[in-house]
Amino acid sequence: MTFMITMEQVKELDLKGKDFLKLLDFNITDIQALILLADDMKKHKEKYKDSLKGQILGMIFEKNSTRTRVSFEAAILGLGGHGMFLSSDQLQIGRGETIEDTGKVLSGYLDGIMIRTHGHDRIETLAEAASIPVINGLTDLYHPCQALADLLTVYEHKGGFKGNKMVYIGDGNNVAHSLMIGAVMMGMDFALAAPKGYEADQEVIQKAQGIAKETGAVLTFTEDPVEAVKNADFIYTDVWTSMGQEEEAILRLKAFEPYQVNEALLAKANADCKFMHCLPAHRGEEVSADVMDGEASVVFQQAENRMHAQKAVLYSLMKK
Ligand code: CP
Ligand code: NVA
Repeated sequence: MTFMITMEQVKELDLKGKDFLKLLDFNITDIQALILLADDMKKHKEKYKDSLKGQILGMIFEKNSTRTRVSFEAAILGLGGHGMFLSSDQLQIGRGETIEDTGKVLSGYLDGIMIRTHGHDRIETLAEAASIPVINGLTDLYHPCQALADLLTVYEHKGGFKGNKMVYIGDGNNVAHSLMIGAVMMGMDFALAAPKGYEADQEVIQKAQGIAKETGAVLTFTEDPVEAVKNADFIYTDVWTSMGQEEEAILRLKAFEPYQVNEALLAKANADCKFMHCLPAHRGEEVSADVMDGEASVVFQQAENRMHAQKAVLYSLMKK
């Protein structure tokens, strides 16, 4: 159940100068080390308080955010650095300046860039152009900082991953993709139940299958939420309509109706099954209010863990 690495190996983790665009860019030991480091940073805040002293993180948002914005700013401040909120509609990118030029210019002022954007290719272009680390604060395809916080949350509950089952119910979206990759990298079984037409991306599934073969994780896909939650230790869901899909909202409400995580579904999982959600949540849609606010819910622990997990990412990428 426990990790194969020690705190000594965590100290050897060398991600200096790298980008953090998706979990797939890292090996299993790197991700384990980031989780252990985040856990240590959560427990020993003082030890790290000046570790990024004077460093500046620019945070570009091309979509709304509560958690990502505030947790990144709190994380960089907690490490002795400074966070700069950059709303795209107030930058020249909002008036057509290219993301490449923006990346080159910001590299002259800052020590790191976090960006929340649309297509994943856009963050890749930015990372290519910038000479400083670029961190993914959500794209249409991935949300790796969320998954890292989620893995930290699982680790806090279980002390490890193998032998546990994570079940994702709903839209095969950015959050589902990163969670799937993260879970199988850690050797955790993963099941995804989605309606036809809303399954996870085929390429991401293939990558996950390759990793699962290596780690021994069992990976299953179904349309049936009841079948998926059998033996679940964690049930996870996310909004049915992601940012940028607002025009499809009515159609989606109908397609996902049988996929609500409620007491009846939770009762079919393991007795001590926890409920997870990246937030923001819509009570009465993807989750019932009694599950969201009930005993099994660990959603606010996940939200807090965003800050601790991101401290580990910032520290590892930006330390001098
Ligand atoms: N979970 C998450 O990324 O939340 P925000 O959209 O509020 O940043
Ligand atoms: N899937 C959601 C996650 C929000 C944190 C979205 O992309 O809008």
